[in-house]
Amino acid sequence: MDEILAQDEFALVTRKGDTAKADYGIPLAVLVELTHRCPLQCPYCSNPVELEASGKELSTEEWLRVIDELAEIGVLQIHFSGGEPTVRKDLVQLVQRAHDVGLYSNLITSAVMLSRDKLQALADAGLNHVQISVQGANAAMADRVGGFKNGHAKKLEVAAWVHEMGLPLTVNAVMHRQNLPQLPEIIDLALQLRAQRLEVANVQYYGWALKNRASLMPSREQMDRATAIVESARSQLHGIMEIDYVIPDYYAERPKQCMGGWGRQFFNISPAGKVLPCHAAESITGLEFDSVRGNKSIRWIWDNSEAFNAYRGTGWMPEPCQSCEFKEIDFGGCRCQAFALTGKAGNTDPACAKSPHHKRIFEAALESAGGSDSFIYRNFSGGTPETDKA
Ligand code: FES
Repeated sequence: MDEILAQDEFALVTRKGDTAKADYGIPLAVLVELTHRCPLQCPYCSNPVELEASGKELSTEEWLRVIDELAEIGVLQIHFSGGEPTVRKDLVQLVQRAHDVGLYSNLITSAVMLSRDKLQALADAGLNHVQISVQGANAAMADRVGGFKNGHAKKLEVAAWVHEMGLPLTVNAVMHRQNLPQLPEIIDLALQLRAQRLEVANVQYYGWALKNRASLMPSREQMDRATAIVESARSQLHGIMEIDYVIPDYYAERPKQCMGGWGRQFFNISPAGKVLPCHAAESITGLEFDSVRGNKSIRWIWDNSEAFNAYRGTGWMPEPCQSCEFKEIDFGGCRCQAFALTGKAGNTDPACAKSPHHKRIFEAALESAGGSDSFIYRNFSGGTPETDKA
C-alpha cells in the first residue's frame, strides 16, 4: 500500500457491541487488502516487510463470501485496498457484490493501472468513492518517489475521469522531507482535481519506511511550516475541500491513538485472509492471527481472538501507561511501533515522552535524519532492493 491510512476515515464509525463477551461493537468500516502486489515501489510502503505471495491470496469465491459475511454482521463500508487492488482481475465482481449486499465501497488506488473502461465498469458496478495517492506535486518528484515512470500523469488522467463519472474523490499525499516543500502545490493540485478531501499524511516510521528513515524524516522547521500551511489552507478552503493532517510521531507530544486503539474501532483483512487489528500487525512476531479460511466467523475473531484481545482496553498496559491520565485517550499509542523500535509490542510506545526508550530512540533518529536523499525502494517482486542516487 503506497499510502498511509487516514484513520479519521475509520474513527467515527463504530457502535456499541451486542455481545456480553466484548464491549466493542463490530466496526462499521473495514479495510480489505486484496493483494500485496503493487507496481509502485514507494520507499515508505506501509505493508508488512514480508509481503504475501500472490498464490496465497484469497480466491474470488472466498472474497465474495467475506463480503457477504461483513454485510451480515453489520459492517457498512468496505475499503478495497492493497498493494494495488486494481491488479485483481475480479475487482469489478467484488465491487458489484459489495453493492448488492448494501455496502458503501471505496477504492484506495495508485490509479496507474486503471483504464477509463475499467473505471467505468467499477462505477457501473456501484463503486461509491475513489481515493488516489500522489507522491508529489509534479512528475519529477512523484515518479521518483513512487519508482514508476509516467505514473503521475496517469494519476491526473484517472482523477479527471473520476470527476467526469460523478464519483467523489479523496487525494492522499504521503509527505516527507523530500516532498514537503511542495505542500502548497499539492493542495492546489488536489483542488484542481476537484477532490472533496485531501489527506496530508506524513510518513510514519515502521515497516519499510524505517529502512528509509534518514532520507524521509523532515526537520522540525519543515513540520512547523507544514502545520502552518495546512491550518491556513483549512480556513481558506472551509466548505470546499477537507484536509486531514497527520504528523509523524517523532514530532508529536503524545503518541497517536493508533487505529483508534487496538481492537476498538478497526480491523482489516489481509490478502491471505488473516483478520488483523491493523494493517501492519503481522510485523509483530509471536501473535497468532485467525483467518477467514478457518472455521471461525469474523464476528467470533473480532470478539474472542487472542490477537485482538492482547492489547485491547487498558489492562495489558505496563507502567507508566497504567497510571497515566491519557491512557483512555491514546490507548497506549502504536503496538507496531513499540515492537519495531523496542522489540516488544507490549512496551510503552516510544513516541511517548514518558517511555524510558523515548530519548534514546527518537532523539537519535532526529539527529541521524537528513544524511542522504537516496531511497531503498520497495518492490513486490523481491530480490535486491534498488537504491537511487538522487
Ligand atoms: Fe499497528 Fe499502530 S500501526 S498498531
